[in-house]
Amino acid sequence: MKILQGIDLVKVSRIEQLIKRSGKKFLDRVFSAGEQSYCSSKRMSCEHYAARFAAKEAVLKALKVKPQKGQKLSEIEVRREATGKPFIVLSKVICRQLRLPAKAQIELSVAHEREYAIATVVIVIP
Ligand SMILES: CC(C)(COP(=O)(O)OP(=O)(O)OC[C@H]1O[C@@H](n2cnc3c(N)ncnc32)[C@H](O)[C@@H]1OP(=O)(O)O)[C@@H](O)C(=O)NCCC(=O)NCCS
Repeated sequence: MKILQGIDLVKVSRIEQLIKRSGKKFLDRVFSAGEQSYCSSKRMSCEHYAARFAAKEAVLKALKVKPQKGQKLSEIEVRREATGKPFIVLSKVICRQLRLPAKAQIELSVAHEREYAIATVVIVIP
């Protein structure tokens, strides 16, 4: 069994600037339609976007890879259980690119406040 861990801290204002500068193009490259719908419904939407950005980076960090050209971060998606607990869903394409076995389990935890968002990821490969 292999246990991999990743963590990422994101400044909310950095995400806010990227959204202001690149708008829909940035949003579509990085966030799925579901993520955009959830975050944009929130009063402090950039905090929620920043938390999801941190989660995606934490997944890559756990796997010790950098985003590749042509790879869309939107294929690493954060969804929520009914309780609000977040979890990661990877597209088949990105699973293949990251060489992640189908049996791998990913655990995610995120937190955010006005200035920063943080995410930790633990990947268990049986
Ligand atoms: C879930 C909880 C811990 C979130 O804490 P918070 O300080 O409000 O917010 P944080 O910035 O730390 O975290 C927010 C993230 O927590 C995650 N979260 C929400 N509900 C969750 C749950 N049930 N389990 C795990 N994570 C959860 C979400 O990802 C959320 O971010 P998102 O909305 O962008 O997806 C909190 O709302 C809670 O329910 N605490 C239980 C204890 C309690 O009720 N205390 C008050 C009485 S003393």
